[in-house]
Amino acid sequence: MIKESDRVVVRGLRDVEAAETRISYVDFNGFLYYLGYNIDDLVGRVTYAEVAYLLVHKRLPTQRELDNFRSELVSDMKLPDPIVDSIKHTPKHCHPMHILRTEVSRLAEYDPEGNDFSEAANLRRAARLIAQVPVIVATIHRSRLNKTVPEPKSEFGFSENYLYMFKGAIPDESETNVLHRYMSLHADHGFNASTFAARVTASTNSDMYSAVTSAIGTLKGPLHGGASEKVMEMLDDINLEEEVEEYVNGLLDDQKKIMGFGHRVYRAQDPRTKHLRGIVEDLSHRDRTLDLYNKCIKIEEIVYGRRKIYPNVDFYAAVAMDALGVPKEFFTPFFASSRISGWVAHVIEQYEDAVLLRPASKYVGEFNRTFVSIENR
Ligand code: SDX
Repeated sequence: MIKESDRVVVRGLRDVEAAETRISYVDFNGFLYYLGYNIDDLVGRVTYAEVAYLLVHKRLPTQRELDNFRSELVSDMKLPDPIVDSIKHTPKHCHPMHILRTEVSRLAEYDPEGNDFSEAANLRRAARLIAQVPVIVATIHRSRLNKTVPEPKSEFGFSENYLYMFKGAIPDESETNVLHRYMSLHADHGFNASTFAARVTASTNSDMYSAVTSAIGTLKGPLHGGASEKVMEMLDDINLEEEVEEYVNGLLDDQKKIMGFGHRVYRAQDPRTKHLRGIVEDLSHRDRTLDLYNKCIKIEEIVYGRRKIYPNVDFYAAVAMDALGVPKEFFTPFFASSRISGWVAHVIEQYEDAVLLRPASKYVGEFNRTFVSIENR
């Protein structure tokens, strides 16, 4: 027990190590490891399903294990009818992250293994959530178009089925490849705010749905996963490339934060940025992608020149999503569709760690105030 006089308040818990983990390591020098694998060795060489397996089972799968895992995920890409119905009746103006948070929470009501919280049941529950979160996202989108969600195809992979169910059209190989890389890059990232929220919830021995609901609410914030939608709003606000300099310098002059830039941990380039910038370059033949990309390069130059800070994962992810035809209000739901694999992996690790996450606080309020009854106030 640390004496109260020796305690210090660390605002934002900056650089505070709240627990040990083996799942991912975010190196401030600009490196990211999943279970000891540098993501540069994984991205483009593994599918997202392999990454999800790695995070949850703590090792890369054999071909047979991957085939079985992929089949399990695809067979779990379905929702209880009352949840589909609930999504259909949600007001169209409601942000998809509100609906995702609500419907993931409701999945608990239809869990086939209800009160079985054994390790085996939690692993099956984790796989179901990895499969169902994207299906909720696809169902929200399709219901807004007054269209149904196509059934997943057993011959398709997981990411391919996700795009197929979201867009209602069979994705081409390049689109599926983009989504594999995008989802692999977004799957886990140490004790980011949403993962930490999930771990705090799990540390009370609460259930996995409650922990993931906490995480979704946390990811929604524009300082976290909500930034990618704000990046696209900024890019849409800048009509011409020639206007970038004045626009960005205006924000910086007003001490405003540039969405998609900066990071609590990295003091060098976010290692995911080069991969996401590469994805955008691969898609620059599409629609308005090249124009957006050129604006991004200019923004990067200006912000680094004035603030010496780099783009984070959300900056080019916004343009990659746009190039895939994903509406900007679905950018953060796509982030959640991948980060769900990291969240459930951390929830399981927190259950294993079996300690309540409950920090102290420094009370700076008053003491011994005199009580006055209401009739005399
Ligand atoms: C994600 O934690 C994770 O790992 C998150 C994530 C993941 O994979 O889970 O990587 C995903 O959330 C990425 C971050 C997405 N958010 C944004 O893009 C929002 C814009 N970024 C900032 O709000 C900020 O950079 C944070 C929130 C990301 C980090 O904030 P910190 O660590 O609290 O840093 P800070 O706000 O104290 O800034 C330090 C300095 C300040 O300057 P000074 O006051 O010291 O002079 O850097 C400046 C800030 O003004 N700064 C920025 C800036 N970010 C930091 N200046 C302009 N634009 C920015 N975006």
